[in-house]
Amino acid sequence: CGIVGYVGSQDAAPILIEGLGRLEYRGYDSAGVAVASRGGLKVRKVSGRVADLAADLPARFKGSPGIGHTRWATHGEPTPENAHPHTDMAGRIAVVHNGIIENADELRAKLVADGVEFTSQTDTETVAHLVAAAFADGATTLEEAVRAALRQVVGAYGLAVLDAEHPDRLVVARNGSPVLLGIGEKEMFVASDVAALVGYTRQVVYLDDGELATLTATGYRTFTLDDRSTAKSPSTIDWDVVGAEIGDNAHFLIKEINEQPRTIARALSGRLDERFDTAHLGGLNLTVREAREIKRVKILGCGSACYAGELGAQLIEDLARVPASAEPASEFRYRNPVVEPDTLYVAVSQSGETIDTLAAVQELQRKGGRVIGIVNVVGSTIARQVDGGIYLHAGPEMSVAATKSFTSTVVAFVLLALHFGRMRDLSPSDGRRIITGLQRLPDQVSEILQNEAHIAEIAKELAQASSVMYVGRRRGWPVAREGAQKLKEVSYVHAEAYPSAELKHGPLALISPEMPTVALVPDDELLDKNTSTLSEIKARKGPVIAVAHRELPTELADRTIVVPRNEPELDPILLSIPLQLLAYHAAVALDRDVDKPRNLAKSVTVE
Ligand code: G6P
Repeated sequence: CGIVGYVGSQDAAPILIEGLGRLEYRGYDSAGVAVASRGGLKVRKVSGRVADLAADLPARFKGSPGIGHTRWATHGEPTPENAHPHTDMAGRIAVVHNGIIENADELRAKLVADGVEFTSQTDTETVAHLVAAAFADGATTLEEAVRAALRQVVGAYGLAVLDAEHPDRLVVARNGSPVLLGIGEKEMFVASDVAALVGYTRQVVYLDDGELATLTATGYRTFTLDDRSTAKSPSTIDWDVVGAEIGDNAHFLIKEINEQPRTIARALSGRLDERFDTAHLGGLNLTVREAREIKRVKILGCGSACYAGELGAQLIEDLARVPASAEPASEFRYRNPVVEPDTLYVAVSQSGETIDTLAAVQELQRKGGRVIGIVNVVGSTIARQVDGGIYLHAGPEMSVAATKSFTSTVVAFVLLALHFGRMRDLSPSDGRRIITGLQRLPDQVSEILQNEAHIAEIAKELAQASSVMYVGRRRGWPVAREGAQKLKEVSYVHAEAYPSAELKHGPLALISPEMPTVALVPDDELLDKNTSTLSEIKARKGPVIAVAHRELPTELADRTIVVPRNEPELDPILLSIPLQLLAYHAAVALDRDVDKPRNLAKSVTVE
């Protein structure tokens, strides 16, 4: 979900709509805005997209300050009633909220007993009524009323409150869900994500958990629930604003796929140490001694971040010879894991906001675990929570499906593995081999991208299937998982990934002329094993699309997508690019909502 708010002399609605449009990748079931106008509130909510909301706003929808929200439904269906902002009965207080109020049922029961009538099924509406009740109980300022309300709330929130009777300010609060303030010229902004502020300001203040803030046109004050002032210093967003614009591209997804030669180069920039054949990673905050004492590496993330982590684990074992494994953060956090002081934990998250990954980090830190992050969004919650890490510098990733963040994460893991390897038993010549390979990657990715038309044709065939199998072995296995994930999420074609050798233990029963297989067949030490898997599939008349280093004979593959060869450790990065293009073009062929697939959100900040 996304929150945006504005205080200043301009009309709030256009600024809110623009900001919500930029946050829409975070959730897009329903959207709404509220503005203060002549002592009252104007509220408009729709189920559907921000564009539907914009179309629905009458010309007279004027006023300031204002707050807006785009929603990914958790409690209640995505109806206009359940869309935010939520208001109190008098229509004086409006609230937008991300997160979950855990004691909402209890609060609701209490409020209902006091005569409050609810108009939605959401947990958020309770906050609007609690703020109104605080005024009824004698609060005189909006700050006081919001503090009184939030003292009763248990749960996670990032929220913004507008009061028609105090139309010079917004009060915002953060506890477990991001809120940042944007400082303008005689105007102030609030958002749950820096993306909303693009084009308005680069000066931001990140609230911490347990903090509130008052925003007026001329400034802000931050404080705690018991009204102690806190000291904050603004940071400057140094991201490439253009990165968040779609330009001439049909979709963000293809734009981001095509950006990969540059994003990979950026992930490498300044980090290759050719003198000592190692990687320079200044942000890890680990002394050489600490790094040498690491006995194990555990990688945590969700979705594509986890698949990138599976490749990361293999890289760390291969290059640094440190036992490593990856696991979905959501599983890890719920299974009472043994936290060891000599294990290095790596949290992977493009957005830096995924709640399951964040919760895993917090659980680890509570138990004395040392956690570093591999994160794209600078200043995000996970980036600020971890003890050190590696930023991807991939620029804003707007399409819901991860592409450039996936390849950049794998590159970050290569650097980490190289860094640790060269402190242990990786030879200078192997270090040099990896560095040279990394330097070749951007051009090789460009080469694959030039093959887009051929891949698009294969994708059109794939789009006709109702189910697709993806297989790979060793490093090809996480690539297959990520490839299947891409196809599912953007084209809605069912796909399943299997380690090649596991095929014969069950899923081979599914293979038929109706079920194509996408197989990763690099020219590595497992080539023979992989080609025998292809023979097994072909013997069952299953169509095969191979991604390989050279054209395969037609008895093994109906179609081959040839990719350039690099070092075996780096090949997975190149093998994953055609799978992104396959998913993209299958989705286009099926006329899907490529950048905003149904039911998904870019960063899942609720459990
Ligand atoms: C969501 C997105 C996925 C992403 C995952 C983890 O489910 O749809 O594409 O891989 O979250 O996101 P993160 O920001 O933590 O990398």
